Amino acid sequence: MPANKEDGGWKKFFWNSETRELLGRTGGSWFKIFIFYLVFYGCLAGIFIGTIQALLLTISNYKPTWQDRVAPPGLSHTPRSEKSEMAFDPRDPETYLPYTKALKNFMSKYDEEGQKDQMKFEDCGEHPAEYKNRGDLEMDVGVRKACRFPRTLLGPCSGLEDTEFGFKEGKPCVIVKLNRIVNFFPRAPSTNDSIPEEAQPKVQPNLIPIYCTNKREEDAGKIGEIKYYGIGEGFPLQYYPYYGKLLHPQYLQPLVALQFTNLTRNMELRIECKVFGDNIDYSEKDRYQGRFDIKFQVNGL
Ligand SMILES: *[C@@H]1O[C@H](CO)[C@@H](O)[C@H](O)[C@H]1NC(C)=O
Ligand SMILES: *[C@@H]1O[C@H](CO)[C@@H](O)[C@H](O)[C@H]1NC(C)=O
Repeated sequence: MPANKEDGGWKKFFWNSETRELLGRTGGSWFKIFIFYLVFYGCLAGIFIGTIQALLLTISNYKPTWQDRVAPPGLSHTPRSEKSEMAFDPRDPETYLPYTKALKNFMSKYDEEGQKDQMKFEDCGEHPAEYKNRGDLEMDVGVRKACRFPRTLLGPCSGLEDTEFGFKEGKPCVIVKLNRIVNFFPRAPSTNDSIPEEAQPKVQPNLIPIYCTNKREEDAGKIGEIKYYGIGEGFPLQYYPYYGKLLHPQYLQPLVALQFTNLTRNMELRIECKVFGDNIDYSEKDRYQGRFDIKFQVNGL
């Protein structure tokens, strides 16, 4: 500490004009400190930027690096209501309006209008076919075309002629899709071993079949005939793989429509639908993995 007996001792300590010292240090010494910190913080910044860069290099723009839902795809359906319960009375449009509204809304994504552009869409056939490979995920060919999916494939469930999707006749439609997973190749069943006997006729090459039946023993024989509409009545493989939002912005999932044509009236029926494939699993925890169940109650005569 410099002497502070004299007047202006502190001032002199701050800047001593005789020795040209600032806070008791010479200019050269300050300069060294400055250089030290410059190098020190420079290195810190360098390490920081380097780490971020290295991390970014390992991340692909197109393929999610950490994808926790790789193989088993979820199965989702429309309309979907609270607790998957759908109760309605065909004579009272109010009771089924929410369902037909959801269906209309969902199907509008599949309007013919939106699939006209030849640069963005192509026809992939109306029968199950092999995977449509549009190059590697990392290949520099940019945006990939999407397969068209005409609504007309869903027959009476297309919403084109019957805008009530069968609800008015007490024959409700449900539309099903497999959730999209980037770069996932669903595999058709290679054996009939793990497939219920009634579903086996649905097995065919290049198709993920879907089959619905009563969930509870006591509903056996009360579900009536279920009609399936879509390509091969299932999920055809030519719609895979999906290249992700960036490379496949127009992608449309193939749909399957289920029509419950003869549900027993005035009772709650529980129906389970399942898809089958070599790399499709079911989980105890996730009720929508590869399957789902719905409850129907059609009231009235
Ligand atoms: C499964 O069964 C169906 C009908 O019984 C048959 O047409 C099909 O060829 C079988 N598939 C395999 C892989 O065994
Ligand atoms: C509907 O199901 C009932 C039995 O629940 C049956 O008697 C009737 O023949 C079925 N109708 C049609 C068109 O299949």
